[in-house]
Amino acid sequence: MERELALEIVRVTEVAAIRSAKWMGLGRKMEADDAATSAMREMFDTIAMDGTVVIGEGEMDEAPMLYIGERLGLGQGPAVDIAVDPLEGTNILANGSFNALSVVAVAPSGMLLHAPDMYMQKLAVGPRCRGKVDIDRPIQENLVAVAAALGKNISDVVVAIMDRDRHQQLIEEVRQSGARIKLIMDGDVAAAINTAFDETGVDMMVGVGGAPEGVLSAAALKCVGGDFQGRLVVQDDAQFARCRQMGLHDPSRVLRMHDLVNGDDVIFSATGVTDGELLHGVRFLGNHRVKTQSLVMRSKTGTLRFVDATHDLSRKFDRLGGCD
Ligand code: FBP
Repeated sequence: MERELALEIVRVTEVAAIRSAKWMGLGRKMEADDAATSAMREMFDTIAMDGTVVIGEGEMDEAPMLYIGERLGLGQGPAVDIAVDPLEGTNILANGSFNALSVVAVAPSGMLLHAPDMYMQKLAVGPRCRGKVDIDRPIQENLVAVAAALGKNISDVVVAIMDRDRHQQLIEEVRQSGARIKLIMDGDVAAAINTAFDETGVDMMVGVGGAPEGVLSAAALKCVGGDFQGRLVVQDDAQFARCRQMGLHDPSRVLRMHDLVNGDDVIFSATGVTDGELLHGVRFLGNHRVKTQSLVMRSKTGTLRFVDATHDLSRKFDRLGGCD
């Protein structure tokens, strides 16, 4: 993939973030998600690529846009797989809380796992802990390994875990190990990315969340040299059949980085919708001016760019129907 694609992709997450941020705190997550999805869909179709959605808003019969299998882009250019979450953290946005993102990952065709829409057990760490942890090991052992890799006391290690009943035992085990916990309400993609950046204060993310979000998290961590491991949580026969249908013949096996994101050429972009530890959310400055902050990364070169942009909506996105 040409490196210019990275700068095209950041425009896609920017516009989705701007459109959905309009709904911040209004308690209407569906409208916010629809706004992000349609903005993202329209912007994709300005890009010279031959893209296919592999992680999207759902199956064709349940999602009008950005459904799995939908073709995106102008048709010419590289054949790519696209993973999207136009609004990651719909409840976060509806409540005006922290860490809602708009995210996209793009890789050459066939390189992203086609993850079914079900739960996944996850473990995410940043680059210094890559190769030191294993999702099959007890959490206490992984915490000791993370502390050693980071040169910290275990009591200084912070683990992000979603605040869910299903995590009660995990939370108890982490507490017993002496590590600290950041309980998050939603948004495990942001939590996974945060593990790669010291300034966020998050060293590890564990727990069960959405499988599609797992692929997006893996794409981000691949770009920064971190690690992500997952295991699908199959809850019934229908989900088992769905896995088999999607080519996952042993759904219970551990999915490692190369299973989730194959090859060394993935581009990832995230734009903050609401404020988070790593990215500022969208700011409406008045007089049609809007500020966004994004992180765009490319695994091939390891380049990370934080993109601070000020948009003049009176002159931009006109073709897309304007943002106000
Ligand atoms: P949405 O943006 O679809 O609301 O997902 C938010 C999220 O918190 C993800 O980050 C996470 O992977 C998943 O939901 C967890 O699902 P659940 O709320 O069912 O525990």
